[in-house]
Amino acid sequence: MQVEDVQRVCVLGAGTMGAGIAQTCSVAGFSVAMRDLTEEFVEGGFQRMRDPLEKRVARGKMTQEEVEAILGRIEGFTSLEEALKGADVVIEAVFEEMGIKKELYGELDRLTPDEVIFASNTSSLSITEMAAVTGRSDRFVGMHFFNPAPVMKLVEVIRGSETSDETVQLAMELSRKLGKEPVEVKESAGFVVNRLLVPMLNEAFNLLLENVASPEDIDKAMKLGTNMPMGPFELADFTGLDVGLAVMEVLHRESGDPKFRPSPLLRQLVRAGRLGRKTGRGVYDYGGG
Ligand code: 3HC
Repeated sequence: MQVEDVQRVCVLGAGTMGAGIAQTCSVAGFSVAMRDLTEEFVEGGFQRMRDPLEKRVARGKMTQEEVEAILGRIEGFTSLEEALKGADVVIEAVFEEMGIKKELYGELDRLTPDEVIFASNTSSLSITEMAAVTGRSDRFVGMHFFNPAPVMKLVEVIRGSETSDETVQLAMELSRKLGKEPVEVKESAGFVVNRLLVPMLNEAFNLLLENVASPEDIDKAMKLGTNMPMGPFELADFTGLDVGLAVMEVLHRESGDPKFRPSPLLRQLVRAGRLGRKTGRGVYDYGGG
């Protein structure tokens, strides 16, 4: 398949990443199906797109017609079979759990014609392992987007052990058509960005545990000292503490290296349900939990 043949993209998952990827595909002019398990989740996905777009309208950066056109190219589904109809590429952004993903891919493989390309937005799991449950390991690739997907320029394109050159090429070209800059990465836990970024966030929790500085000052130090747009705790709250912990666990498990040991404080906050902005409370309090 050539990138010119891609007309319709099916995005699985309407959470932060799924909705952001669906929006990105629609902005680039593709017709989009977005699927999640319940009407409520699908509706939540549309709301996640609408809110920042409405803010842009209020600031005079966009017209209401443009917002409606972006949202109008996206159809919401709960039925997997319906969502997959006519899709040329499937981008999966469901919960980061290998068992859930493998079960889904087995089903996808049965429901979609052979030529359809599968792309996983996994943040650290093995593309090779997911691809192995399908009969199309050569047409299976990783496309790792960054939050907020409509804004962040990078896509890591991940080659599993069986991914063909053609599929990698298609994912690279598709990323460019989506207005992104792709970087090709060999399969390795955490790929490039999360292997570097998440241990840094993890270490911030260790600093806090050792009372080296307050959360505000740790954030301030990294913002002013390295020009990061957000400090480590602001970023951890933004992306989700559970997401960061899951990445650390994969890095630790896959490498066996103690340098990737999750911080006990990060673990404790996740256990307490303090997952960040999405639950109203993480390192900071957002008045919702
Ligand atoms: N849709 C469309 N536009 C959006 C948007 C969205 N969902 N969210 C933000 N924007 C736009 C705004 O409209 C604004 O556009 P404008 O400049 O034309 O007005 C622009 O993006 C900047 O947004 P804001 O003015 O609201 O806010 P900031 O200037 O503070 O930027 C930020 C917000 C882009 C989130 C910035 O703080 C940032 O870059 N933070 C770091 C994000 C980051 O590191 N992400 C990667 C996380 S790691 C990851 O995702 C991997 C995973 O596997 C864990």
